[in-house]
Amino acid sequence: SIGQSTNVVWHESPIGKLDRQNLLQQKGCVVWITGLSGSGKSTVACALNKALYHRGKLAYILDGDNLRHGLNCDLGFTAEDRAENIRRVGEVAKLFADAGVICIASLVSPYRRDRDACRTLFSDKNFIEVFMDVPLHVCEARDPKGLYKLARAGKIKGFTGVDDPYEPPLNCEMTINASDGNCPSPCDMAEQVISYMDEKGFLQ
Ligand code: PPS
Repeated sequence: SIGQSTNVVWHESPIGKLDRQNLLQQKGCVVWITGLSGSGKSTVACALNKALYHRGKLAYILDGDNLRHGLNCDLGFTAEDRAENIRRVGEVAKLFADAGVICIASLVSPYRRDRDACRTLFSDKNFIEVFMDVPLHVCEARDPKGLYKLARAGKIKGFTGVDDPYEPPLNCEMTINASDGNCPSPCDMAEQVISYMDEKGFLQ
């Protein structure tokens, strides 16, 4: 849908996605990392970016927290605002994928319907949903930014996992179990994603 935009026309570029992909020797796609705050999304995103870089593959991270400093600075954490946040990042990820880049999106993205709506922007195999499967108590014990503590004290309202829902994926491409005691290294987690991408032909 083009929503409020009327009298607009789609322009084709003379250089297409296939040309860009041939240039880069990779396939544009999105690796969408979802999970609770503190589940390790950013850690995996960074390790994956680094591992891809060392293989000569161009990736770019779209981090929810970072984008809220700019593109999404007008959005809060209501269900509506999170939906708009995910929608915008999905659209940006689509542009990156069209540019031939491997886009690594790292957002809590707690609602299944928002992630599924994002998926519809991509031909199915170009949307790789990765679930950071870490129980709440582990994320809360880590509490890297002290936000769970603030949420428990009632100083942050609507914090995912505390007084706001998180809906785990039902049919994602990959699940990473990164609980303490069973936590693979960031490199190992990145390798899990890379093996999947290799197998599916994204890296050639
Ligand atoms: S969402 O739900 O996808 O729109 O969220 P996202 O854009 O990924 O932003 C999540 C980061 O914002 C911080 N934060 C909160 N998270 C969840 N719920 C509430 N209410 C909230 N308020 C602030 C938090 O640092 C999240 O970062 P991560 O990296 O996930 O810890």
